[in-house]
This record gives sequence, C-alpha cells and structure tokens, in this order.
Amino acid sequence: MTELAKTVTGFLAVFYYWIESIVLFFVPVRLKAKDISGELVLVTGAGSGLGRSTALKFAEKGCNLVLWDISTKGNEETAAMIREKGVKAYTYEVDVTSSEAVYEVAAKVKKDAGIVTIVVNNAGIVAGKSILDLEEKSIRKVFDVNVLAHFWVIKAFLPDMLEKDHGHLVTISSLAGLGGSARLTDYCASKFAAHGLMDALQVELHAEGRKNIHTTVICPFFINTGMFNGATTRIFSNLEPDFVAEEVITSVMCNKSLVLIPRFFHILYQLKILMPARSVLALHDATGGTDSMAKFTGRNSKKVQ
Ligand SMILES: NC(=O)c1ccc[n+]([C@@H]2O[C@H](COP(=O)([O-])OP(=O)(O)OC[C@H]3O[C@@H](n4cnc5c(N)ncnc54)[C@H](O)[C@@H]3O)[C@@H](O)[C@H]2O)c1
Repeated sequence: MTELAKTVTGFLAVFYYWIESIVLFFVPVRLKAKDISGELVLVTGAGSGLGRSTALKFAEKGCNLVLWDISTKGNEETAAMIREKGVKAYTYEVDVTSSEAVYEVAAKVKKDAGIVTIVVNNAGIVAGKSILDLEEKSIRKVFDVNVLAHFWVIKAFLPDMLEKDHGHLVTISSLAGLGGSARLTDYCASKFAAHGLMDALQVELHAEGRKNIHTTVICPFFINTGMFNGATTRIFSNLEPDFVAEEVITSVMCNKSLVLIPRFFHILYQLKILMPARSVLALHDATGGTDSMAKFTGRNSKKVQ
C-alpha cells in the first residue's frame, strides 16, 4: 500500500470506528459483551475495598481468581467469599512494589493456577497531604504502589498473554488521573502516570498488531471503601464499591478502553479540555471539588507514613 493510500484508509477508519462506537452505544450490553467465564483473573489489592468487590463480580461471571494483597487476612476473607460462588481462588501475600516479589510469585501462580488472562492492577494508596507536607519517602511510596508496580505486574503476565494471543489488562486509575485535586499532588501524578502507561501500551499493542490483547483504564470518583474517608464534594455523592465493580466488569466485557465512573463525568472531562483554566477552577468551586479533601482522614493504617 502506498503512503497516500495508508493515510486515506487511516482517516476513513477514524470515522468508521467513531460511527461504530455511536451505534454500539445503543446496543444492549448483553448483546455486545464478550464471555469471560473460565478466564483466570488476577486482582492486586484484593483484600479489601474495590479489589474485593471486583474479584467477587468476576467470580459471579464464572472466572477463577488469583488474589494478591500485602494483607493476608483480608485476602483470605475475599478468597472464602469467592469459593462460596463455586469457582477457584488462589491467594498470595505480595508487596507489588517489589519487582523481585512480583516475578517470583507470578512464576508460582503459573505453576499453581495456570495462565492469567485478565490482570486488574488495583492496589493503591493515598497520603492526602499538601505538597509541602509530603515527605520524599511518602511521594516515592505512592508512585511505587500506584504506578511502578503496574510495570512489574504487566511485565510478569503480558508475555503469556502474547504467547496465547489472548488477554486483557485493566488499570484502576481515578478521576484524579484526569484532573488535579488539592492535597492530592502525588496521588494525581501517580494516577495520571498509570493512565499514561496504559494509553501508551494500547498504542504499542496496536502497532504490533495485537488485536486480541485489550486494555481498560477505570477512572472512578470517590468510593466508600475507607481509603478516602472524609473526602467529599458538595454536589456529587460518593460511590459504592459494588457499583464501581459492576462497571469494571461491564467495561472489560465490552472491551472499553477508558471509563469514567459515574459515566456523566465523560461530559465534564470533555468540557475540561475545552474550557479555559479559570473556568475549570470555578467549576471546582461550584461543585465543592476545591475543598473535597479538606475533611479527609483516610484509613489511618493505610495512610503512607
Ligand atoms: N476509594 C476511592 O475513593 C477511590 C477512588 C478512585 C480510585 N480508587 C482506586 O481504587 C483502587 C482500590 O482502592 P480502594 O478504595 O479499594 O482502597 P483499599 O485501601 O480499600 O484497598 C487497597 C488494597 O490494596 C492493598 N495494597 C496496598 N499496598 C499494597 C502493596 N504494596 N502490595 C499489595 N497490595 C497492596 C491494600 O492492602 C488493600 O487491600 C486504588 O488503586 C485506588 O487508588 C479509589
């Protein structure tokens, strides 16, 4: 194909996929969702909150689960709930910030459970302090858990997905990975980075013609898990973990690449790109977003020291 023909077909494809996505928007989920029963799903940070809820939803769809967490107790509780649903759950105590631990345990997982075909990078932490109060060690820890660990986990599991020509990589980012927030400079930066990693990886997989390895980035608003205790805005209600988990599963089954939860935040996100910066700040004031972290206490045991 000539360079001109490549350019023309490329632009035609832009419009084709745009129209396709508008048509698919009106197609019921049950008609467009892929079957994920029998998949082996790894969830990091599965011992509580969104990780637990997401693992349970995957179990309800007939998936077997590999559960990773730094906390054994929470992880075992999640595993017991999953086994009640009649599927398998394999638990591992892993600190995902250690690349050595990730590679070592990934090898064990392959031996014990087989090839992981869906990975959910969910483990995350928050400090909730203004930039001058953040200690260097704390900033590095947030980056270690919220983004660098994603590299180690992807590097551990992607090769088998490529070999099998089948897989799905999911990242739990945040709305804080698409827009700034006071007292969350480190957290926002790490979540933007996690989103950037997946955006680039999606293009890289496309460049290599890997049509059967999918990527999904999930960007939720505050969730009532305890991680963001005290954080709130004036007009938006915090979300329930089960609702977000259901959205995660639907997004994976429909091969969505970027999902903001709740969905109407897609409109605000597009407006943010178009609006002048002072209007964006005024919108923060109007919605209570400016002070959303003012009463943050977090879950003390989970706060970065
Ligand atoms: N809670 C919210 O309001 C909210 C909003 C948007 C995005 N998120 C994101 O959702 C994800 C889940 O958050 P959550 O609210 O369920 O929090 P959570 O604190 O309930 O769960 C996080 C889990 O990760 C585990 N974990 C922490 N560090 C780890 C490490 N080094 N190695 C292995 N496991 C580790 C914890 O033990 C815990 O079980 C996070 O990535 C978070 O940033 C949360």
